[in-house]
Amino acid sequence: MLGEQKICFSGVQPSGNLTIGNYLGAIRNFSTFSDAYKCFYCVVDEHAITVRQVPADLRRRTYETLALYMACGLDPEKNTLYVQSHVPAHAELSWILNCYTMFGELSRMTQFKDKSTKHADNVNAGLFTYPVLMAADILLYQTDVVPVGIDQKQHVELARNIAERFNQLFPDTFTVPEPMIPQNGKKIMSLADPTKKMSKSDENQNAIVYILDDRDTIIRKFRRAVTDSDTVVRFAEGKDGINNLMTIYSCFTEKSMEEIEREFAGKGYGDFKLAVGEVCADALAPVQARYKELLADKAGLEAQMKKGAEEAAYYARKTLAKVQKKLGFVQVR
Ligand code: TYM
Repeated sequence: MLGEQKICFSGVQPSGNLTIGNYLGAIRNFSTFSDAYKCFYCVVDEHAITVRQVPADLRRRTYETLALYMACGLDPEKNTLYVQSHVPAHAELSWILNCYTMFGELSRMTQFKDKSTKHADNVNAGLFTYPVLMAADILLYQTDVVPVGIDQKQHVELARNIAERFNQLFPDTFTVPEPMIPQNGKKIMSLADPTKKMSKSDENQNAIVYILDDRDTIIRKFRRAVTDSDTVVRFAEGKDGINNLMTIYSCFTEKSMEEIEREFAGKGYGDFKLAVGEVCADALAPVQARYKELLADKAGLEAQMKKGAEEAAYYARKTLAKVQKKLGFVQVR
Protein backbone atom coordinates (compact mmCIF):
# COMPACT_ATOMS: atom_id res chain seq x y z
CA MET A 1 0.00 0.00 0.00
CA LEU A 2 1.12 3.52 -0.69
CA GLY A 3 -1.22 5.74 1.31
CA GLU A 4 -4.71 4.57 0.39
CA GLN A 5 -3.68 3.03 -2.89
CA LYS A 6 -3.13 -0.69 -3.46
CA ILE A 7 -0.04 -1.52 -5.47
CA CYS A 8 0.61 -4.03 -8.24
CA PHE A 9 4.14 -4.84 -9.46
CA SER A 10 5.50 -7.25 -12.04
CA GLY A 11 8.50 -7.64 -14.32
CA VAL A 12 9.66 -9.44 -17.44
CA GLN A 13 13.27 -10.19 -18.38
CA PRO A 14 14.46 -8.89 -21.76
CA SER A 15 16.50 -12.06 -22.12
CA GLY A 16 14.89 -13.47 -25.25
CA ASN A 17 11.96 -13.04 -27.59
CA LEU A 18 8.78 -13.22 -25.57
CA THR A 19 6.52 -16.25 -25.91
CA ILE A 20 2.80 -16.90 -25.68
CA GLY A 21 3.67 -18.34 -22.23
CA ASN A 22 4.84 -14.89 -21.12
CA TYR A 23 1.75 -13.40 -22.76
CA LEU A 24 -0.92 -15.74 -21.38
CA GLY A 25 0.70 -16.31 -17.99
CA ALA A 26 1.57 -12.69 -17.29
CA ILE A 27 1.61 -9.74 -19.71
CA ARG A 28 -1.92 -9.90 -21.07
CA ASN A 29 -3.25 -9.94 -17.49
CA PHE A 30 -1.28 -6.86 -16.44
CA SER A 31 -3.76 -4.32 -17.81
CA THR A 32 -6.63 -5.87 -15.80
CA PHE A 33 -5.02 -4.44 -12.66
CA SER A 34 -4.67 -0.89 -13.94
CA ASP A 35 -8.00 0.43 -12.67
CA ALA A 36 -8.01 -0.94 -9.15
CA TYR A 37 -4.26 -0.69 -8.42
CA LYS A 38 -1.36 1.66 -8.92
CA CYS A 39 0.73 -0.50 -11.26
CA PHE A 40 4.48 -0.68 -11.82
CA TYR A 41 5.67 -2.86 -14.72
CA CYS A 42 9.39 -3.17 -15.06
CA VAL A 43 11.73 -4.47 -17.77
CA VAL A 44 14.20 -6.32 -15.54
CA ASP A 45 17.49 -5.97 -17.40
CA GLU A 46 19.56 -6.54 -14.24
CA HIS A 47 18.00 -9.97 -13.81
CA ALA A 48 18.81 -10.80 -17.43
CA ILE A 49 22.58 -10.62 -16.94
CA THR A 50 22.56 -13.56 -14.53
CA VAL A 51 23.03 -15.54 -17.73
CA ARG A 52 25.39 -14.25 -20.43
CA GLN A 53 23.80 -11.79 -22.85
CA VAL A 54 25.07 -10.25 -26.07
CA PRO A 55 25.02 -6.52 -25.15
CA ALA A 56 23.49 -5.36 -28.45
CA ASP A 57 20.70 -7.95 -28.11
CA LEU A 58 20.01 -6.99 -24.50
CA ARG A 59 19.77 -3.32 -25.51
CA ARG A 60 17.41 -4.07 -28.42
CA ARG A 61 15.22 -6.39 -26.35
CA THR A 62 14.87 -3.81 -23.61
CA TYR A 63 13.23 -1.44 -26.11
CA GLU A 64 11.21 -4.32 -27.54
CA THR A 65 9.90 -5.45 -24.16
CA LEU A 66 8.76 -1.94 -23.29
CA ALA A 67 7.06 -1.64 -26.69
CA LEU A 68 5.36 -5.00 -26.11
CA TYR A 69 4.07 -3.89 -22.73
CA MET A 70 2.36 -0.98 -24.42
CA ALA A 71 1.22 -3.06 -27.41
CA CYS A 72 -0.42 -5.49 -24.95
CA GLY A 73 -2.61 -2.68 -23.68
CA LEU A 74 -0.58 -1.03 -20.92
CA ASP A 75 -1.31 2.67 -21.11
CA PRO A 76 1.75 4.60 -19.87
CA GLU A 77 -0.55 7.26 -18.46
CA LYS A 78 -2.19 4.72 -16.17
CA ASN A 79 0.81 2.46 -15.43
CA THR A 80 4.41 3.18 -14.51
CA LEU A 81 6.47 1.43 -17.21
CA TYR A 82 10.23 1.53 -16.81
CA VAL A 83 13.59 -0.23 -16.94
CA GLN A 84 15.07 -1.71 -13.76
CA SER A 85 18.65 -0.42 -14.20
CA HIS A 86 17.28 3.15 -14.49
CA VAL A 87 16.21 3.04 -10.83
CA PRO A 88 19.32 2.36 -8.70
CA ALA A 89 17.25 1.72 -5.57
CA HIS A 90 16.54 -1.83 -6.85
CA ALA A 91 20.20 -2.82 -6.60
CA GLU A 92 20.66 -0.95 -3.32
CA LEU A 93 17.73 -2.60 -1.57
CA SER A 94 18.80 -5.92 -3.02
CA TRP A 95 22.14 -5.68 -1.21
CA ILE A 96 20.41 -4.94 2.07
CA LEU A 97 17.94 -7.81 1.64
CA ASN A 98 20.83 -10.16 0.82
CA CYS A 99 21.84 -9.71 4.44
CA TYR A 100 18.35 -10.81 5.55
CA THR A 101 18.07 -13.86 3.28
CA MET A 102 19.45 -17.24 4.23
CA PHE A 103 21.80 -19.30 2.10
CA GLY A 104 19.60 -22.35 2.73
CA GLU A 105 16.49 -20.54 1.45
CA LEU A 106 18.18 -19.62 -1.80
CA SER A 107 19.54 -23.15 -2.21
CA ARG A 108 15.97 -24.44 -2.26
CA MET A 109 14.85 -22.31 -5.22
CA THR A 110 13.94 -24.69 -8.03
CA GLN A 111 14.75 -22.15 -10.73
CA PHE A 112 18.30 -21.82 -9.38
CA LYS A 113 18.69 -25.58 -9.44
CA ASP A 114 17.41 -25.74 -13.05
CA LYS A 115 19.45 -22.79 -14.29
CA SER A 116 22.66 -23.86 -12.59
CA THR A 117 22.38 -27.25 -14.30
CA LYS A 118 21.65 -25.61 -17.64
CA HIS A 119 24.46 -23.04 -17.34
CA ALA A 120 26.94 -25.24 -15.48
CA ASP A 121 29.88 -23.23 -16.83
CA ASN A 122 28.55 -19.99 -15.31
CA VAL A 123 26.99 -20.60 -11.89
CA ASN A 124 27.63 -17.03 -10.76
CA ALA A 125 26.61 -15.46 -7.45
CA GLY A 126 23.99 -13.33 -9.24
CA LEU A 127 22.18 -16.45 -10.42
CA PHE A 128 22.03 -17.58 -6.79
CA THR A 129 20.86 -14.24 -5.35
CA TYR A 130 18.51 -13.50 -8.27
CA PRO A 131 15.37 -14.02 -6.08
CA VAL A 132 16.65 -11.39 -3.63
CA LEU A 133 16.77 -8.78 -6.40
CA MET A 134 13.25 -9.86 -7.30
CA ALA A 135 12.19 -9.40 -3.67
CA ALA A 136 13.75 -5.93 -3.74
CA ASP A 137 11.79 -5.08 -6.93
CA ILE A 138 8.56 -6.06 -5.25
CA LEU A 139 9.12 -4.70 -1.74
CA LEU A 140 10.45 -1.30 -2.88
CA TYR A 141 6.96 -0.31 -4.01
CA GLN A 142 5.06 -1.66 -0.97
CA THR A 143 3.43 -4.06 -3.40
CA ASP A 144 0.16 -5.82 -2.55
CA VAL A 145 -0.15 -8.07 -5.61
CA VAL A 146 2.29 -9.60 -8.08
CA PRO A 147 0.75 -11.05 -11.27
CA VAL A 148 3.01 -13.88 -12.49
CA GLY A 149 2.94 -17.36 -14.01
CA ILE A 150 3.22 -20.32 -11.64
CA ASP A 151 6.98 -20.67 -12.18
CA GLN A 152 7.53 -17.42 -10.25
CA LYS A 153 5.31 -18.36 -7.29
CA GLN A 154 8.22 -19.71 -5.22
CA HIS A 155 10.13 -16.45 -5.73
CA VAL A 156 7.16 -14.34 -4.62
CA GLU A 157 6.80 -16.57 -1.57
CA LEU A 158 10.45 -15.93 -0.75
CA ALA A 159 9.78 -12.18 -1.05
CA ARG A 160 6.95 -12.65 1.48
CA ASN A 161 9.27 -14.48 3.86
CA ILE A 162 11.94 -11.80 3.56
CA ALA A 163 9.34 -9.06 4.17
CA GLU A 164 7.96 -10.86 7.22
CA ARG A 165 11.43 -11.46 8.66
CA PHE A 166 12.41 -7.83 8.16
CA ASN A 167 9.10 -6.60 9.61
CA GLN A 168 9.67 -8.68 12.72
CA LEU A 169 12.97 -6.95 13.32
CA PHE A 170 11.78 -3.54 12.11
CA PRO A 171 7.98 -3.34 12.38
CA ASP A 172 5.84 -1.85 9.58
CA THR A 173 8.59 -1.63 6.99
CA PHE A 174 7.19 -3.64 4.08
CA THR A 175 3.79 -4.63 2.75
CA VAL A 176 3.70 -8.43 2.44
CA PRO A 177 2.86 -9.21 -1.23
CA GLU A 178 0.53 -11.87 -2.69
CA PRO A 179 1.23 -13.70 -5.94
CA MET A 180 -1.67 -13.44 -8.45
CA ILE A 181 -1.57 -16.54 -10.60
CA PRO A 182 -4.11 -16.74 -13.45
CA GLN A 183 -6.58 -19.65 -13.35
CA ASN A 184 -6.03 -20.36 -17.00
CA GLY A 185 -2.60 -20.05 -18.63
CA LYS A 186 -0.45 -20.15 -15.50
CA LYS A 187 1.89 -22.68 -17.13
CA ILE A 188 1.90 -22.94 -20.91
CA MET A 189 3.89 -25.99 -21.94
CA SER A 190 6.41 -26.57 -24.73
CA LEU A 191 4.85 -27.67 -28.04
CA ALA A 192 7.72 -30.13 -28.58
CA ASP A 193 7.72 -31.63 -25.08
CA PRO A 194 4.46 -30.87 -23.27
CA THR A 195 5.86 -32.07 -19.94
CA LYS A 196 8.18 -29.01 -19.93
CA LYS A 197 7.35 -25.32 -19.56
CA MET A 198 7.42 -23.25 -22.76
CA SER A 199 10.54 -21.16 -22.25
CA LYS A 200 12.00 -18.30 -24.30
CA SER A 201 15.44 -19.85 -23.90
CA ASP A 202 14.49 -23.23 -25.42
CA GLU A 203 16.80 -24.09 -28.31
CA ASN A 204 14.10 -25.96 -30.21
CA GLN A 205 12.20 -23.27 -32.14
CA ASN A 206 9.27 -25.62 -32.70
CA ALA A 207 8.73 -25.78 -28.95
CA ILE A 208 7.91 -22.07 -28.71
CA VAL A 209 5.37 -19.70 -30.21
CA TYR A 210 6.63 -16.15 -29.99
CA ILE A 211 4.25 -13.23 -29.54
CA LEU A 212 5.79 -11.76 -32.70
CA ASP A 213 5.68 -14.89 -34.90
CA ASP A 214 3.82 -14.31 -38.16
CA ARG A 215 0.54 -16.07 -38.88
CA ASP A 216 2.00 -18.83 -41.07
CA THR A 217 4.71 -19.61 -38.54
CA ILE A 218 2.20 -19.77 -35.70
CA ILE A 219 -0.05 -22.14 -37.64
CA ARG A 220 2.90 -24.31 -38.72
CA LYS A 221 4.21 -24.59 -35.14
CA PHE A 222 0.81 -25.64 -33.79
CA ARG A 223 0.43 -28.15 -36.65
CA ARG A 224 3.69 -29.79 -35.54
CA ALA A 225 2.83 -29.77 -31.82
CA VAL A 226 3.49 -33.10 -30.15
CA THR A 227 0.28 -34.84 -29.06
CA ASP A 228 -0.60 -38.51 -28.46
CA SER A 229 -1.89 -41.53 -30.36
CA ASP A 230 -5.52 -41.01 -29.30
CA THR A 231 -7.74 -39.12 -31.75
CA VAL A 232 -10.38 -37.55 -29.51
CA VAL A 233 -10.01 -33.93 -28.36
CA ARG A 234 -10.60 -34.24 -24.63
CA PHE A 235 -8.88 -32.96 -21.49
CA ALA A 236 -7.56 -35.97 -19.57
CA GLU A 237 -4.64 -37.24 -17.57
CA GLY A 238 -1.76 -38.43 -19.71
CA LYS A 239 -2.76 -36.24 -22.66
CA ASP A 240 -0.27 -33.47 -21.90
CA GLY A 241 0.01 -32.22 -25.48
CA ILE A 242 -3.75 -31.98 -26.05
CA ASN A 243 -4.31 -30.57 -22.55
CA ASN A 244 -1.82 -27.80 -23.34
CA LEU A 245 -3.41 -27.02 -26.72
CA MET A 246 -6.87 -26.99 -25.10
CA THR A 247 -5.57 -24.62 -22.43
CA ILE A 248 -4.15 -22.28 -25.07
CA TYR A 249 -7.39 -22.44 -27.08
CA SER A 250 -9.38 -21.77 -23.93
CA CYS A 251 -7.20 -18.76 -23.02
CA PHE A 252 -7.79 -17.17 -26.41
CA THR A 253 -11.51 -18.01 -26.76
CA GLU A 254 -12.62 -18.03 -23.10
CA LYS A 255 -14.35 -21.37 -23.81
CA SER A 256 -14.41 -24.05 -21.10
CA MET A 257 -12.84 -27.47 -21.64
CA GLU A 258 -16.33 -29.03 -22.02
CA GLU A 259 -17.27 -26.49 -24.68
CA ILE A 260 -14.06 -27.22 -26.55
CA GLU A 261 -14.65 -30.98 -26.35
CA ARG A 262 -18.15 -30.47 -27.80
CA GLU A 263 -16.90 -28.14 -30.53
CA PHE A 264 -14.37 -30.70 -31.76
CA ALA A 265 -16.42 -33.87 -31.22
CA GLY A 266 -16.04 -36.07 -34.31
CA LYS A 267 -13.12 -33.98 -35.59
CA GLY A 268 -9.47 -35.02 -35.55
CA TYR A 269 -6.37 -33.50 -34.02
CA GLY A 270 -5.47 -31.89 -37.37
CA ASP A 271 -8.61 -29.71 -37.37
CA PHE A 272 -8.12 -28.83 -33.73
CA LYS A 273 -4.46 -27.83 -34.12
CA LEU A 274 -5.36 -25.60 -37.06
CA ALA A 275 -8.10 -23.94 -34.99
CA VAL A 276 -5.67 -23.30 -32.10
CA GLY A 277 -3.17 -21.74 -34.51
CA GLU A 278 -5.86 -19.54 -36.02
CA VAL A 279 -7.25 -18.17 -32.75
CA CYS A 280 -3.72 -17.50 -31.52
CA ALA A 281 -2.71 -15.70 -34.74
CA ASP A 282 -5.98 -13.70 -34.74
CA ALA A 283 -5.46 -12.58 -31.14
CA LEU A 284 -1.83 -11.60 -31.66
CA ALA A 285 -2.31 -9.71 -34.95
CA PRO A 286 -3.45 -6.41 -33.34
CA VAL A 287 -0.69 -6.65 -30.70
CA GLN A 288 1.90 -7.11 -33.46
CA ALA A 289 0.56 -4.19 -35.50
CA ARG A 290 0.64 -1.83 -32.54
CA TYR A 291 4.09 -3.12 -31.51
CA LYS A 292 5.54 -2.26 -34.94
CA GLU A 293 4.28 1.32 -34.69
CA LEU A 294 5.65 1.73 -31.17
CA LEU A 295 9.04 0.24 -31.96
CA ALA A 296 9.48 2.55 -34.94
CA ASP A 297 9.43 5.51 -32.54
CA LYS A 298 12.63 4.95 -30.57
CA ALA A 299 12.67 8.50 -29.21
CA GLY A 300 9.11 7.99 -27.96
CA LEU A 301 10.16 4.82 -26.15
CA GLU A 302 13.15 6.57 -24.59
CA ALA A 303 10.93 9.42 -23.40
CA GLN A 304 8.66 6.81 -21.88
CA MET A 305 11.60 5.06 -20.16
CA LYS A 306 12.69 8.35 -18.67
CA LYS A 307 9.25 9.33 -17.43
CA GLY A 308 8.63 5.84 -16.00
CA ALA A 309 11.98 5.77 -14.21
CA GLU A 310 11.35 9.17 -12.62
CA GLU A 311 7.93 8.07 -11.36
CA ALA A 312 9.25 4.76 -10.07
CA ALA A 313 12.32 6.32 -8.44
CA TYR A 314 10.12 8.69 -6.45
CA TYR A 315 8.35 5.79 -4.71
CA ALA A 316 11.43 3.56 -4.57
CA ARG A 317 13.52 6.20 -2.82
CA LYS A 318 10.88 6.60 -0.12
CA THR A 319 11.00 2.92 0.83
CA LEU A 320 14.78 2.77 0.56
CA ALA A 321 15.20 5.79 2.84
CA LYS A 322 12.82 4.23 5.38
CA VAL A 323 14.81 0.98 5.35
CA GLN A 324 18.17 2.72 5.62
CA LYS A 325 16.95 4.79 8.55
CA LYS A 326 15.63 1.73 10.38
CA LEU A 327 18.92 -0.08 9.84
CA GLY A 328 20.93 2.74 11.36
CA PHE A 329 22.54 4.14 8.22
CA VAL A 330 23.39 7.80 8.76
CA GLN A 331 21.28 10.08 6.60
CA VAL A 332 22.61 13.51 5.76
CA ARG A 333 20.56 15.82 3.55
P1 TYM B 1 10.29 -14.17 -16.98
O1 TYM B 1 10.90 -13.06 -17.74
O2 TYM B 1 10.90 -15.52 -17.10
O3 TYM B 1 8.79 -14.32 -17.37
C1 TYM B 1 7.89 -13.23 -17.35
C2 TYM B 1 6.53 -13.69 -16.89
O4 TYM B 1 6.02 -14.72 -17.76
C3 TYM B 1 5.61 -15.84 -16.99
N1 TYM B 1 5.86 -17.05 -17.77
C4 TYM B 1 4.94 -17.99 -18.04
N2 TYM B 1 3.64 -18.09 -17.71
C5 TYM B 1 2.96 -19.17 -18.16
N3 TYM B 1 3.52 -20.14 -18.94
C6 TYM B 1 4.82 -20.07 -19.29
N4 TYM B 1 5.35 -21.02 -20.07
C7 TYM B 1 5.59 -18.96 -18.84
N5 TYM B 1 6.88 -18.58 -19.01
C8 TYM B 1 7.04 -17.41 -18.34
C9 TYM B 1 6.47 -15.78 -15.74
O5 TYM B 1 5.88 -16.50 -14.67
C10 TYM B 1 6.56 -14.31 -15.47
O6 TYM B 1 5.41 -13.87 -14.77
N6 TYM B 1 11.93 -13.42 -12.33
C11 TYM B 1 10.93 -13.03 -13.29
C12 TYM B 1 10.98 -11.55 -13.62
C13 TYM B 1 10.88 -10.66 -12.43
C14 TYM B 1 9.72 -10.37 -11.68
C15 TYM B 1 10.13 -9.44 -10.68
C16 TYM B 1 8.39 -10.80 -11.76
C17 TYM B 1 11.91 -9.95 -11.88
N7 TYM B 1 11.44 -9.22 -10.84
C18 TYM B 1 9.23 -8.97 -9.74
C19 TYM B 1 7.50 -10.30 -10.81
C20 TYM B 1 7.92 -9.40 -9.82
C21 TYM B 1 11.18 -13.81 -14.58
O7 TYM B 1 12.24 -14.31 -14.82
O8 TYM B 1 10.14 -13.78 -15.44
